[in-house]
Amino acid sequence: MARLVLAVMLLLNAAILCSGGITSEFVRLQESAVDMPLHADVFRMPPGYNAPQQVHITQGDHEGRSIIVSWITPSEKGSSTVFYGTSENKLDQHAEGTVTMYKFYTYTSGYIHHCVLTDLKYDRKYFYKVGEGSAARLFWFKTPPEVGPDVPYTFGLIGDLGQTFDSNVTLTHYESNPGGQAVLYVGDLSYADVYPDHDNVRWDTWGRFVERSTAYQPWIWTTGNHEIDYAPEIGEYVPFKPFTHRYHVPHKSSGSGSPFWYSIKRASAYIIVLASYSAFGKYTPQSEWLEQEFPKVNRSETPWLIVLMHSPLYNSYNYHYMEGETMRVMYEPLFVTYKVDVIFAGHVHAYERSYRISNVAYNITDGKCTPTSDLSAPVYITVGDGGNQEGLASSMTEPQPNYSAYREASFGHAIFGIKNRTHAYYNWYRNQDGNAVEADSLWFFNRVWNPREES
Ligand SMILES: [Fe+2]
Repeated sequence: MARLVLAVMLLLNAAILCSGGITSEFVRLQESAVDMPLHADVFRMPPGYNAPQQVHITQGDHEGRSIIVSWITPSEKGSSTVFYGTSENKLDQHAEGTVTMYKFYTYTSGYIHHCVLTDLKYDRKYFYKVGEGSAARLFWFKTPPEVGPDVPYTFGLIGDLGQTFDSNVTLTHYESNPGGQAVLYVGDLSYADVYPDHDNVRWDTWGRFVERSTAYQPWIWTTGNHEIDYAPEIGEYVPFKPFTHRYHVPHKSSGSGSPFWYSIKRASAYIIVLASYSAFGKYTPQSEWLEQEFPKVNRSETPWLIVLMHSPLYNSYNYHYMEGETMRVMYEPLFVTYKVDVIFAGHVHAYERSYRISNVAYNITDGKCTPTSDLSAPVYITVGDGGNQEGLASSMTEPQPNYSAYREASFGHAIFGIKNRTHAYYNWYRNQDGNAVEADSLWFFNRVWNPREES
């Protein structure tokens, strides 16, 4: 009897494991994700005349001592000043911002303010106020600890969020997860471009929807294909116009000439943001910048090297299949040479984690086109599972490739928790579970300080 039970268990295991890792058999509702209506409470305008809305913050320099505060005033320009301080009752510092706006076909944006708060102290709670009179609004954020090799720090990972009821579940789930101190956002924000004429009102609703998190902790922005907003049929020829007006990033402080690729240090992590939809071939500005960037990373100062991009380089779903291949050919040798710990991407509306593998042995003539185990290679993680209206990517290539460790078509978010220079704990949470349930988890070993194989 025991032998029979064992045989059945082995059979079941074989069905789940295929030839690669695990394809989760978790069963979920297959209903398509639906955008929340314009009157949904999460899109509500803040009260008061010309009250600031869509408040969001991001890191404002290379080291984590600055914050960019951005917001929109709908009716008139108003003040671009941010009052701030370490006590709620004593906002004794202030900074002047700038204001911009844009038109997109028949849409005219509100007044978009960006203000940089500089020379902040590390590891402090700051309160800040935007707006005027009775419509002024007060928020707070925490600065990161000083950059150093053993500083614990916890990042949230969210991608392809959109503004559906499922997006709301994802964001709520992330917020109720006590760990996340900053969000690494892997692109595709509002999905306004799926509306007729790229209805930019949906950029505004998205800004109001996510404010409950973006006003209180920095979201580190990566651009996706839904940020391109290229629409020649209505006379809109400038790519990324809404995104670049609404979301500022500190690209100049890492010597980048473009907001689409840049780097920051935060606590014990060095984060490189790449652009899947800007030129990245040989001699392009992004390529030249990246080649100069990697040698600057000091792993004795920031042991954890994280790369963000939108389109995944390894993806075994039948959606966006091979779209990351040109960037893989260009940049994978750099990722292996410089021992990147992990690469997070979105784009595919599902979850997948790879083993440490590389395909750098391949060239056009040698035929070595199978990814192989490589302890200098990053782990590739796709978290394009925020919940946008395009729905889940549930169709997968079969059998599961050997390099794929875990894949599941569910909405969710992830947490990357750095403990010290050698260890980081990673969890992926699916929306259907409580916060205590880890659908996929892994202890990461740092590639420079602890380059063992993770199990
Ligand atoms: Fe995408």
